[in-house]
Formats: sequence, structure tokens, C-alpha cells
Amino acid sequence: MNPFTAEETLKLPKHVAIIMDGNGRWAQARGKPRLFGHRNGVENVRSVVNTARELGIPYVTLYAFSQENQSRPVAEKSGLMKLLEEFLKLELKSMMKDGIRLRAIGDLDGLPPFAKKAVEETIEQTRGNKDWNLTLALNYGSRQEVISAVKSIIKSNDIKPEAFKWDDFSQHLQTKDLPDPDLIIRTSGEFRLSNFLLLQAAYAEIFVSPLHWPEFNRGAFIGSLKDYVHRERRFGKTHEQIASVT
Ligand code: IPE
Ligand code: IPE
Ligand code: MG
Repeated sequence: MNPFTAEETLKLPKHVAIIMDGNGRWAQARGKPRLFGHRNGVENVRSVVNTARELGIPYVTLYAFSQENQSRPVAEKSGLMKLLEEFLKLELKSMMKDGIRLRAIGDLDGLPPFAKKAVEETIEQTRGNKDWNLTLALNYGSRQEVISAVKSIIKSNDIKPEAFKWDDFSQHLQTKDLPDPDLIIRTSGEFRLSNFLLLQAAYAEIFVSPLHWPEFNRGAFIGSLKDYVHRERRFGKTHEQIASVT
């Protein structure tokens, strides 16, 4: 059953980006190793992706591994990379069936070769899919992305500084094919962006859930969307200006 009215449905976000936090704490609270939390976190990805597709939200981006996460213990990192490979292999069939195109943002060269290969192969195999868009942020850091963009602009050698605008800059970001996120969800009660889509989030609405990622279920996701559709996004204008158009 669709939990949104027709009016609410029109206001649903086009792009939801999620900082999937709290896997470790969720597991530790159950006396289990952190990797148990990551494994359950992957299960939750399936549920949230299915809900977003069902509701017609065309873009979902998941922060799965930050550049700063490289400083975690080796065993945790390799466990995460194996889970990533396993997820991609298991999901390929349904991604093809459901027309899901996979993209990745982040520095894939910093992943172990087997994980990089699995990501690149899935991106290649799903390139022609047009129905839905899943982006994984892997070894991603927003500041590092900005530095890469600046390098690429300098190399492109055709800049006219006087005419240079945000759109010229954003074309050099890894998110160039994605709309800006409308809603950023962070689980586990932390009120920070942790180097995620800092510039793209300029006008994103932010929702922080106290739930850890493995327990952020369909109902919690729908709750965050309900909250979002009743917000007023003013983009610098006044309430009166916004109210007069709608
Ligand atoms: C999020 O859960 C997953 C990754 C960062 C890879 P955490 O592993 O950060 O879990 P907590 O925050 O330590 O509970
Ligand atoms: C952010 O979570 C990165 C991901 C969810 C992949 P962290 O757990 O790494 O963030 P901090 O260190 O608490 O800011
Ligand atoms: Mg964390």
C-alpha cells in the first residue's frame, strides 16, 4: 500500500543520499563482532532500495565506505570489501531484471583489486539500464573529489575565469550525471556529514534518525520521507514567495 497521498507523492525527493551509519554499534550492542553489523547493514540496503523503487524515487546514493574509513582495522576493511563483492555478484541478476544502473563515486583505485573489479564490471554490465539509479560512494571523500575536479579543470585548459560558474565546476565532479540530493538521511543519531557530498548538499534537507542502519527499516525510511514532504524548501526565498506558486 502506498503510504503517501497524491499531493505528498508529488513532493517526494528525486534523489535520496544515505549515510549508513551505526552498523558497528548495532552489532556490539548485541555482543557480536562489527562485521555482523555490516552484514545486516547490507540486508537493509535491499529493503531500502526496494522501497525507494516502489515509491518512484529515481536516485539513491549510499555512503558505503569513506576515504577516512581506510584507517579502520585491516580485518574490518577486508570484511567490508568482501561483503561489497558478494552484494554486487548476488544483485546483478535483479539489477538487470529491474533496469537498475549502478554508478560509483569515490577513488576506486584505493579499493582492493577484487573489489574494484566487481564494481567496475557491475557498472559496465548495468550501463544500459534506464529505470532506476543506484550510486555507491566507495572510498569517497568530498574534499578529495573537489581536488580531483580542480585538477581536471586545470588540465582541460579552456577556462575563462570571468565566465566560470558553478555548472562549469560541477561538470568535473563525479556526481555530474546525478541531480543534487534533495534529502540526506544519516542513521545512528550523528549530526554530521563526514565528508559526504559537501557541495552537492548545498540545499539538501537533512534527516537524522536515532536508529542504527541495520534497524532503519521500511517504516523508518517512510517516516523520514513523510517528514521531508512536509518541509518547506525555500532556496533563499521567503515563505510568501513559495506559498504563492503552490
Ligand atoms: C557504518 O557503520 C558503516 C561504515 C562506516 C563502513 P559503522 O561501522 O561506522 O558503525 P559505528 O558508527 O561504528 O557504529
Ligand atoms: C561515515 O560514517 C561513512 C560511512 C557511512 C560510510 P563514519 O562512521 O565513518 O563517520 P564518523 O567517523 O563517525 O564521522
Ligand atoms: Mg560510524
